[in-house]
Amino acid sequence: MAEAAVRELRETAIALVHEAGAAILAVSEAGVRDIQFKGEGTRDLVTEADKRSEAIIVETITRRFPDHRILAEEGTGTGGTGAYRWIIDPLDGTTNFAHSYPLFCVSIAVERAGEMLVGVVFAPYLRELFVASRGEGATLNGRPLTVSGTTELPKALLCTGFPYRLDASTSNLSHWSNFVLRSQGTRRDGAAALDLCYVAAGRYDGFWEFSLSPWDMAAGALMVQEAGGTISMPAGTPYTPESRDIVASNGHLHAAMLDTLAIGRNGHGTTGPVSQSQPVAGSTSSSHEPPPAT
Ligand code: IPD
Ligand code: CA
Ligand code: CA
Repeated sequence: MAEAAVRELRETAIALVHEAGAAILAVSEAGVRDIQFKGEGTRDLVTEADKRSEAIIVETITRRFPDHRILAEEGTGTGGTGAYRWIIDPLDGTTNFAHSYPLFCVSIAVERAGEMLVGVVFAPYLRELFVASRGEGATLNGRPLTVSGTTELPKALLCTGFPYRLDASTSNLSHWSNFVLRSQGTRRDGAAALDLCYVAAGRYDGFWEFSLSPWDMAAGALMVQEAGGTISMPAGTPYTPESRDIVASNGHLHAAMLDTLAIGRNGHGTTGPVSQSQPVAGSTSSSHEPPPAT
């Protein structure tokens, strides 16, 4: 594909996340969130902001690129057989947004014939724009991103998430406790696309989550790869946007994270704190380097 076309896709995505982000903030400021549950007995929410954001994005893509396919979370995308596919989370972190917790974002990725070309994530409240283009690196507000240099799990700040379905949520609890006991700290921020961008930015050293959807991961996964990090499935097999489960790391910690996930998968948890001096399988020992300032 000619470079100019990738640039056009990227610039369109950047303009759209800004427009959608402004609409999300406008909904919040006007106090018309209209918070609804997506189904009986679920914790999965949808708000007026999710709908307005998706409408803005889908309308423009459909008009400018009528032969492109669109996969969008709230279901207004379009099918077809075109090589290009836009993957859209109009508001990632809806629960945060509903509670006025400022970690939420708009996420747009574009792939061609299965190869991810562009990923753009914008956190409107925090005014942070993450952009990745295949082979061209990743940036935060225009500044290049590099993953952290942390090489030991006990010195790592990690993040995970829990799906809305309770049965799927509980299966991450043993992994959660294993990582809490082995890392410097483990967070749950509630916006998977941003969590991945934070790995790309060196704020987190690693992230794992189960039962995600393509729109949660597509842009953020490219961000991590373009910032020099590693992405895989929890068993170490290759990631695709349809994978549902993901491990993202700075690369140095990937083996240690996969080893820790294997412990939980085998039905084992840690019953007590892991000594900070005790090496964790798969980790290497060298000093902690702080992430680059962003
Ligand atoms: C959710 C967030 C959350 C993750 C959930 C996702 P939504 O997306 O990314 O961090 O744990 O699994 O569904 O519903 O806010 O777009
Ligand atoms: Ca969403
Ligand atoms: Ca999401």
